[in-house]
Amino acid sequence: MLNVLDKLIKKINFNFDYIDLGGGMGIDYNKDDKKFNYKKYNQIIKKFLRSHKTKIIFEPGRSIIGDTAILISKIIYIKENSKKDFIIVDAAMNDFMRPALYGAKHKIIPLKKTNKITKKSYDFVGPICETTDKFLTTNKFQKLNEKDYIIICDVGAYGSSLASNYNIRPKPAEILINGSKINVIKKRQKLKDII
Ligand SMILES: Cc1ncc(COP(=O)(O)O)c(C=O)c1O
Repeated sequence: MLNVLDKLIKKINFNFDYIDLGGGMGIDYNKDDKKFNYKKYNQIIKKFLRSHKTKIIFEPGRSIIGDTAILISKIIYIKENSKKDFIIVDAAMNDFMRPALYGAKHKIIPLKKTNKITKKSYDFVGPICETTDKFLTTNKFQKLNEKDYIIICDVGAYGSSLASNYNIRPKPAEILINGSKINVIKKRQKLKDII
């Protein structure tokens, strides 16, 4: 993009006061994701600034807060099939929209680790009657039981901000952990708060 801008600026002979490079750096949602190379980005921008007098603006979203939050959810029911189990959790697409909205894949891990691994695949789904109320399909996950808790990772960006009361579902509590300090920053909604 900066190469294109470089050519364009030279062609039109116009100096921009500022250039907004936006966000989009993303975060490492899965171990296999290609990491954004900030060092290279920095070098390319510095090189660009050597020949253009302009102010660079960034709008990073996920890269700042994406990995600062997790969503903890309880398994309310397990619907068993021969090869695949549906793990129905008490969080749903209204609490965390990214998988339903644009197929985002967020790692899920058990709250308590054991050594028992299942051979079945798991579909982690919410309790709302919508085909998109699904978080993730996994293979070789730890064997889970009803009432166990799971963690949906990296929900700090577009998590709480995209949450809604769809299906008359009260929103969960939000807890801020700062070192040894634990603060409830949003109280768990009650049904009477929304009807
Ligand atoms: C105008 C604008 N700038 C920046 C961002 C942040 O994008 P990202 O979270 O991919 O860094 C967004 C995301 O919606 C946006 O709409």
